[in-house]
Amino acid sequence: MKILILGAQGMLGHELATIFKDVSPILWDRPELDIIDKKQVIAKLGELKPDLVISAAAYTAVDDCEANHGLADKINGAAVDYLAGACKKIGAILVQYSTDYVFSGRKKTGYQEKDKPQTPVNYYGVSKLLGEKNLQKYTDKFYLIRTSWLYGKFGKNFVNTMLDLAKKQLIGEITTPLKIVNDQFGKPTFACDLAKRTQELVETQKPFGIYHITNETGLNGISWYQFARGIFREAVKLKILAKMPKIKLCTSGEFLRPARRPKYSMLVNTKLPRSRNWQVALREYLFSTENSLATTVKQCKI
Ligand SMILES: NC(=O)c1ccc[n+]([C@@H]2O[C@H](COP(=O)([O-])OP(=O)(O)OC[C@H]3O[C@@H](n4cnc5c(N)ncnc54)[C@H](OP(=O)(O)O)[C@@H]3O)[C@@H](O)[C@H]2O)c1
Repeated sequence: MKILILGAQGMLGHELATIFKDVSPILWDRPELDIIDKKQVIAKLGELKPDLVISAAAYTAVDDCEANHGLADKINGAAVDYLAGACKKIGAILVQYSTDYVFSGRKKTGYQEKDKPQTPVNYYGVSKLLGEKNLQKYTDKFYLIRTSWLYGKFGKNFVNTMLDLAKKQLIGEITTPLKIVNDQFGKPTFACDLAKRTQELVETQKPFGIYHITNETGLNGISWYQFARGIFREAVKLKILAKMPKIKLCTSGEFLRPARRPKYSMLVNTKLPRSRNWQVALREYLFSTENSLATTVKQCKI
């Protein structure tokens, strides 16, 4: 089976490249194929003729999307239309990722695969929803995988941001408690786990359609504040941090950003075996990155 991974230089793309390495996937990112170029998409996929296209390419800077609607529409919306069309033409299966942010975040019990996404609260969500619609319009042979709060070794993410802030506080560069939002709830996802679950999905030839893949939390999800506390506790246990930083919970209203975030955005998985618990996955992530992080911490004399 010939597999093409798009967005291979991104956080998830890197993990997909590792997970699928035994089948020697073709790895493309923007330099090899700009997915907003319709002609190129059709020509290059037509020439390569992959059996499976896994696209982790996206415009993921949530706050920037607010000021760049056109670009968000092109990369997260229109490009999915081109990819789906090209895959249909050559008979390839398309795996496309989407987000909890396609939902409004008003449903406290979370969102199942069958729930209809509507009224996203930010433009990233609007553009990803456009992509979801385009995918389903142009091909039947798709896996649409929604995920949330993604972190991994190869991208900017909440876990690394929290560790950087904690480190700065511990060396005195930050003198105030870290303020962390406690009124938005979701489910963190380790990119490595998502890549593995993607592989299982395609290898076991599950029915095409929509899937929700995250690490598991309790029914109510966790807040960013709870996530941060979990990160710091594990980091102290692993001696990545010498001690817990001072933290303080705050509301979304006290931590304004260009893009609003949904309040409740737990993705509920009703179709696949449960993924492992978020704390177990986080521990493995921190453990696996311990050496590089520990070096940074040592350099900062903590
Ligand atoms: N990160 C999260 O918290 C999160 C949460 C839920 C869902 N997701 C979804 O999960 C998927 C993977 O996310 P991620 O965080 O791994 O993304 P990422 O790290 O931002 O990687 C995206 C990759 O796509 C590339 N790309 C962007 N525009 C492109 C274009 N026009 N043509 C070709 N390649 C292009 C990027 O290249 P450049 O660096 O050159 O732009 C980058 O290498 C996405 O569909 C995302 O929407 C992510």
